[in-house]
Parts: sequence; C-alpha cells; structure tokens
Amino acid sequence: MKFPFSAFCFPFLAALLLAGCTTRPEQEVKPATLKDAFKHDFLIGVAVNQRQFTGADTNGAALVRRQFNSISPENVLKWEAIQPRPGAGGYNFAPGDRYVEFGETNGMYIIGHTLVWHSQTPAWVFLAADGTNYCDRETLLKRMRDHIQTVVGRYKGRIKCWDVVNEALQDNGELRPSPWLKIIGEDYIAKAFQYAHEADPDAVLRYNDYSLENETKRKGAIALIKKLQAGGVPVTAVGLQDHVKLDWPTIEQEDATISDFARLGVKVMITELDVDLLSRSRSADIAEVRKQAASNNFTNGLPDTVQPALAKRYADLFSVFLKHRHDITLVTFWGVTDGDSWLNRGRLNQPLLFDRQWQPKPAFDAVIQSAQP
Ligand code: G3I
Repeated sequence: MKFPFSAFCFPFLAALLLAGCTTRPEQEVKPATLKDAFKHDFLIGVAVNQRQFTGADTNGAALVRRQFNSISPENVLKWEAIQPRPGAGGYNFAPGDRYVEFGETNGMYIIGHTLVWHSQTPAWVFLAADGTNYCDRETLLKRMRDHIQTVVGRYKGRIKCWDVVNEALQDNGELRPSPWLKIIGEDYIAKAFQYAHEADPDAVLRYNDYSLENETKRKGAIALIKKLQAGGVPVTAVGLQDHVKLDWPTIEQEDATISDFARLGVKVMITELDVDLLSRSRSADIAEVRKQAASNNFTNGLPDTVQPALAKRYADLFSVFLKHRHDITLVTFWGVTDGDSWLNRGRLNQPLLFDRQWQPKPAFDAVIQSAQP
C-alpha cells in the first residue's frame, strides 16, 4: 500500500509555514551591512584614500566593498593632486583614474571632490607670470574653466556628482575672502557651476560646506543658493559636511538645517560625517567625556563611558536623517576606520564606526539598529 505522501508531509509543511509566518518582528534580523540597512532610504558612502582604492590597504578596501555603495575621494581629485603644475601637461590623472575604476568595479555611486576650493589649490593657479602678484580675472577664469572642463570631461558619465565649490562661506554667512573671490569676484561660484554643467550636463552639481547648522552661516548659504537658482545656475545639491561633535549640532539644529535646504528643491547630502571626540565642548558632561578621552588619548581604546556616548550620538543623527529620508539621497562618512581619520592630527581620535582593527564599534551596531525594518 502506497503511503499517501500528502498525509505525512502536509502537517510538516504547514508547521514550517506557520513558523515562518509567526516570526515576531523583534526577532527580525537586521541587515549586516550599512548599505543594506538603508537601501530603501539613501546611499551610504565613505571617503577613501589611495591605499584603499588601490587595494594596498586590503582590509580597508574589503570593508569599503562590503559596507558602502558610494565613495568620495579624500584627496586625489583636489586641484593640488590632479593638476599640480600649470597647463595641459601639468595633470596627474593616474590616482584619479584608479579611484574611478575602483568605484566602477564595485558598482559604487562615485563622487568627485572638489573642483574649486580655497585650500589644497597650488599657488600657481592664482599667480601672474611674474610669480608674485595675483593674475587677473580673465586669466583665472580661463584656468578655472580649463581645469573643470578637463577633469569633469575626463570622468563624464562616470563621476555622478561633483563638489563644484567647497566652503565658499565664512561663519558669518558672507563669502570667504579667498583668492577666487578677490581676483574673479562673486560670480566665480556661478562660473564654476556653469563650466561643470557644460562639461557633464548629467552630473549632479553640489555646493558643499561645514557648520551649516549654525543659523547665521546657513542663512548665507540659503541666500547663495537662491541667488544661483535665480540666475539659472544648475546647482542641484547641497552637501552638509557634518563634521560634528558629541553635543553640536543638536538634533533640532540638524533637523531644521535639512528642512531649510530641502525647501530649496535641491538634493540634500550628508557629505563628510564624523564625530570629533576630542573637540572642545561646552556641556559639562561632554566635557567630562572629553577629559577622559583626552586624558588617555585613547591609547587603550575608548573608555567605557565614551563608547556608549558615541553610539547614542550616531543613532540620534541617523534618526533625523531617516526622518528626512525623502530629502536626503546620500550619507557619506569621512573615513573608513578611526585610523584613517583626518581628525587624528597627531592625536588618537575615534570619530567613525570602525576601529583601528577594521572592527565595528558599538556605534556601528547603533546605526544598523536605527534602520527601519
Ligand atoms: O600629499 C602630501 C604628501 O606628499 C606629504 O608627504 C604629506 C606629509 O606632509 O602630506 C600630504 O598632503 C596631505 C594631504 O592631506 C594628502 O594626504 C596634507 O598634509 C594634509 O593636510 C591633507 O589633509 C586633508 C585635509 O582635507 C586638507 O585640508 C585630509 O586628508 C582630508 O581628509 C581633509 O578633508 C577635508 C575635505 O576635503 C573638505 N572638508 C573638510 C575636510 C577636513 O579638513
């Protein structure tokens, strides 16, 4: 007699199905990577250095591939790196080419940083033939146009978003008195965006700056972007760098800042996120954390009181980013591990989600947990 297959297996299959349907939400396993945790919200990017995108830092490169879906170049596309000397023969494209190839090989949304900045720009850019005085407006405009159209043109369709102008404002919201402003005048910003758009009409063109959570500086940035928009200048995104502290900006300031820029109709991106644990702090309890941090200079890793404070800080920041998930398209960390951070500067800071052994810190877990199911 043949044993009816369904009689035996049906109850077993039913039990399996029921078990699957009755998994309690809290048992839901969170994704193991940042890019998967936020795949329905925004891209998760990271600034990479040359050792990472060439693969020399094998652990760092592996971490980038696993955790992130966007990359920014920490230094190799800045003017001093890509055109250290004047003229067409003065370019050094090799590192930039490797950076873009790394991004394409790993299916990343590739950022270009940065075309026009007062820092890391070689002196020759601003000098007249005599090598001492500033050049004139027309000369600098031509140098700017040649640089932007050569660099943006080379990576057309491959670099999807450019920091066209970086940090043009002072804390008081007025234009920084850089050589760009002094030689060309206020329209250097509009010209830079125009040249970039001519070179790659499909690229997202971003104005990038820090401390925009300070209301005075934010008002200056909003006025700048409105003026560019009124002039038909194709500024399509704003970058909030978010080099933050444990207690600045407040979540309310971050919330208001994102809302203010979203109202301009531009994409909002968090472009250089890190949490400086060694910075001066106004609040007493944070001052205590900083004192502890500074006292042992983290030689033995983060003191027990600091790790939770960093984890909560990142969780709170991501809660406000998620509130604005429809305005924010990208959140980029400014460095892969604590050991890579610009914030070390002779000290042992611990501003990021991964430690010096490429291991996730409690702050990483807190960020993953903040993701919506
Ligand atoms: O390339 C030289 C090398 O030849 C030399 O041997 C070495 C030692 O002196 O210095 C190297 O240059 C360094 C450069 O990074 C490239 O590594 C500079 O000293 C160093 O000051 C520079 O720091 C960068 C900093 O921008 C410069 O302002 C940081 O790595 C970078 O993370 C930081 O990033 C900026 C963003 O681009 C814009 N927003 C602020 C952010 C933090 O300052």
